[in-house]
Amino acid sequence: MSSSSGNLKVGGKDVELPVKDGTIGPSVVDIGKLYGQTGMFTYDPGFTSTAACESKITYIDGDEGILLHRGYPIEQLAEHGDFLETCYLLLFGELPTPTQKADFDHRITRHTMVHEQMMRFFQGFRRDAHPMAVMVASVGALSAFYHDSTDISDPHQRMVASMRMIAKMPTIAAMAHKYSVGQPFVYPKNDLDYASNFLHMCFSVPCEEYKVNPVLSRALDRIFILHADHEQNASTSTVRLAGSSGANPFACIAAGIACLWGPAHGGANEAALQMLQEIGSVDNIPKYIAKAKDKNDPFRLMGFGHRVYKNYDPRAKIMQKTCHEVLKELGIKDDPLLDVAVELERIALSDPYFVEKKLYPNIDFYSGITLKAMGFSTDMFTVLFALARTVGWIAQWKEMIEDPGQRIGRPRQLYTGSPKRDYIAMAQRK
Ligand code: CMC
Repeated sequence: MSSSSGNLKVGGKDVELPVKDGTIGPSVVDIGKLYGQTGMFTYDPGFTSTAACESKITYIDGDEGILLHRGYPIEQLAEHGDFLETCYLLLFGELPTPTQKADFDHRITRHTMVHEQMMRFFQGFRRDAHPMAVMVASVGALSAFYHDSTDISDPHQRMVASMRMIAKMPTIAAMAHKYSVGQPFVYPKNDLDYASNFLHMCFSVPCEEYKVNPVLSRALDRIFILHADHEQNASTSTVRLAGSSGANPFACIAAGIACLWGPAHGGANEAALQMLQEIGSVDNIPKYIAKAKDKNDPFRLMGFGHRVYKNYDPRAKIMQKTCHEVLKELGIKDDPLLDVAVELERIALSDPYFVEKKLYPNIDFYSGITLKAMGFSTDMFTVLFALARTVGWIAQWKEMIEDPGQRIGRPRQLYTGSPKRDYIAMAQRK
């Protein structure tokens, strides 16, 4: 791995640091010994120049707009495969053979039910609770229900926990939806594929027959593929950091869900749709573009910009196509939100502010419109992101746990508080 070394002059000292090369992408300077040699730490809030781990799972070239899972381009996976195939690939490193795929599908399908006691757990929530709050709590609570898969030193238990989470996440997400709309929970149906089963659990009611629309099911499956993993983003890094202390996998995934909820991350799909609704009509776009460019206004164009992509997010292109397919299938010809989205995208892609800062539409820009058309409420959008990202979090967590060099994650800091001082008795304080 290590091919060369780099020389740095730090605090008047020459330091030689090893350089490690990956298979593709930038090499890294290994600064692990920097403190020992110079007494200094590096400083990189937001990790803009820091690789926190080695990984074989996902590769992104943000300048070129490339996303590869285990080497396979996202476009090919989304076009030719299904979500469970992508799950298998992320978890095991290779595309499954037909026998492996059938076995994997079978194993996931047979773990979709949740412990009946979980129903009671749900009933403790207010009906108007945000479904992401319910997700954080109920996924964390899985560790209280499935004690037999929380020993992270046992590879079998690690695998059982992984399968359980991929299998049960749609059930829990659908329960969060049903609870918020005041309808009875719907049990999973094991003869349906992953996405169809989720649609069934979200939208069927006991009093009538529900037929899954195959176009919507395929679109949802593709949305799941697009969200499956995205290397060391904030929520994945949160899962890794939580897991580095030896916490059980259910607790780690709950931590990832909490991080994903923020509007700068997974919460952007909900925020993007709210923004399109707030803009309301094409005539209002210039006002909002001006707000986004105004340094004194906190408003940002949600669904635009990305820490890594300085080009069109490859997932956004597929998402845009999927969005049009769904609207066509549902016979939605004149959606004012779509008109606003198309025009906003056109203006932003030609406005010097966005062009110079390389702010392109990201995956969240079109996912909200698509999910809304499918019948999902806005507060469910980030839940769907969490459902799909679970496999990425698990694959990254397993990779970390199985790395023999794994240590607890413990960043350092630049301390800017008071130097040492003596305690002052209460009576003497002014
Ligand atoms: N609208 C207007 N200006 C923006 C935007 C935006 N959406 N995004 C970045 N900028 C400006 C920002 O003001 C800054 O300007 P200046 O250099 O003059 O101070 C410059 O672009 C760089 O922004 P940054 O905040 O330093 O960039 P970052 O890499 O820290 O943030 C981001 C990336 C995704 C958090 C940010 O682009 C953003 O807030 N976008 C809107 C939220 C969003 O759509 N998030 C979803 C990300 S994709 C899904 C996921 O992975 O979760």
